Amino acid sequence: MRDSVLPPHSGGSHIQKEYKEGEPFDWRNVHDVFTWSKSGQVNMAYECIDRHVNAGKGAHRALYYIGKGKAITYTYHELQSEVSRWANVLRRYGVGKGDYVFVFLPKHPYGYIAMLAAIRIGAVVGPLFEAFMEEAVKDRINDCEGKYLITDQSFMDRVNKEEIPSLRHIFTTDSGNDTTEISIVEEARVESSFSEVEWVDLEDGLNIHYTSGSTGKPKGIIHAHRNMIQQYQTGRWVLDLHENDVYWCTAHPGWVTGTVYGVFAPLLNGVTVVIHGGRFSAEAWYQVLEEAGVTVWYSAPTAFRMLQAEGEDLQKKFDLSSLRHILSVGEPLNPEVIYWAYETLGLRIHDTWWMTETGAQLIANVPTRTIKPGSMGRPIPGIEVSILDEEGSPLPAFETGHLAIRTSWPSIMKEVWKNKQKFNSYFPYGEDWYIAGDLAYLDEDGYVFFQGRSDDMINSSGERIGPFEVESKLIEHPAIKEAGVIGKPDDVRGEIVKAFVTINHGYDWGEELFKEVRLFVKDKLAAHAAPREIEVLEELPKTQISGKLLRRELKKREQERATFSS
Ligand code: PRX
Repeated sequence: MRDSVLPPHSGGSHIQKEYKEGEPFDWRNVHDVFTWSKSGQVNMAYECIDRHVNAGKGAHRALYYIGKGKAITYTYHELQSEVSRWANVLRRYGVGKGDYVFVFLPKHPYGYIAMLAAIRIGAVVGPLFEAFMEEAVKDRINDCEGKYLITDQSFMDRVNKEEIPSLRHIFTTDSGNDTTEISIVEEARVESSFSEVEWVDLEDGLNIHYTSGSTGKPKGIIHAHRNMIQQYQTGRWVLDLHENDVYWCTAHPGWVTGTVYGVFAPLLNGVTVVIHGGRFSAEAWYQVLEEAGVTVWYSAPTAFRMLQAEGEDLQKKFDLSSLRHILSVGEPLNPEVIYWAYETLGLRIHDTWWMTETGAQLIANVPTRTIKPGSMGRPIPGIEVSILDEEGSPLPAFETGHLAIRTSWPSIMKEVWKNKQKFNSYFPYGEDWYIAGDLAYLDEDGYVFFQGRSDDMINSSGERIGPFEVESKLIEHPAIKEAGVIGKPDDVRGEIVKAFVTINHGYDWGEELFKEVRLFVKDKLAAHAAPREIEVLEELPKTQISGKLLRRELKKREQERATFSS
């Protein structure tokens, strides 16, 4: 019989010393860490890099890349020099404060340097997921009229310059034949390794991430430099980062986790960040853990489940003894996987909850607390959570309702790009409560149990997918008349994208057409958005009056089928 709770482990020395359970926490206590609290001059890139160099830690390893070819290392000092060179190139081409600079690069140090260089000169950085296809790239840059793009020559076939008229310059990390692109790596070589920091305000824009809801196209969530307060502190208390840690966050910066907990939080804490290029493979991942000597590891349930499925024999081939702290985010963490890690690695997996909009973790299993498998943990110090009913009144323990966070906290989004209405929609019960769109309940100890979404958003392998975007793409295919897209429960990925469609006259539905339609969405949007299942219906369920698609009905249909077949 397995224990229903797992005791705290011996780590967590920072939070243990600095926080007494149950006490209130004032985020202003964190300000002293930053140079701006004395100088009054703010910049995230400066606090991530220069602050450590100025404190005599320039020789400490900042980035450690394991991928194709030889491992690449940058110390904090080397990172400062390289970021400065890139910043100088960007400046020379007119990039400045408040400009939107999109970064479309693989998991490689260049991607990190590009982001930090843009931030150093006051630009707002928009990291794009490396798997995005042409239309996903175009839609995002066009939405906020991005002027600059830093990408790799090998990604250029997914950048349709003619259809992104706002773009002034494209910088590439590989010298190509096209003379209209600027080879940033080559130009940086001859630049000075010194560059002035563009000082900004805590409230100035830092990054923009496009994220899906259940309606319309992805929205641009803009965050401010003040985020560093909470990102630093959660890095310290939740990730339990200590200076000599070798830390690996497996997410690409195009997903907000890869930016906040892949770049900002670890660098603010002065640790070594491991970057691994390439796709998932259990063997390659274990290899990275061993080779880099990873101590703190932040990943997602789908990846853990995939590792679990590969079996213990493979795991045993590797020396994973350096690992001391494991965390998870993005989708429900099933108890099975927690027990798997506990039994095979002797470590608990610490679930964390947050959203693109929240800018940093809000609910987590901090190392000093008991874990209840099945729960995401409790609000972190300084955060208050409640479960509200449809009228906005708090519900008692064990009753499911809307997961709500009391405003405000240091890393809450600054705005939704040109969409005040969308921004306001997060506060339906007044400005005191931010409503996540998640359903949850609390137990008697205040542990939060995730129960699903209150809208139609799909979560496949932690990837947030808006059904509307997929439906719109599906009906662009000549064979598809109408489409309704839902998340179908899946043992490994949490959910998969399932489409219900009606077909135009003259088309024969079969394996071939299925593959063609799936590929169509994959090529235009991204692999994770392409339906893994497509089912043809005579007609789609709709509301009688307005003819609006009833995804709820499609979901019900799928659920009933699962019940009958299991
Ligand atoms: O539904 C919740 C789910 O992911 C959503 C946020 O997605 P995104 O903005 O892409 O994530 C950014 C960084 C996490 C949430 O509304 N989610 C996130 N964490 C968890 C989760 N669902 C269950 N358990 C979690 N730990």
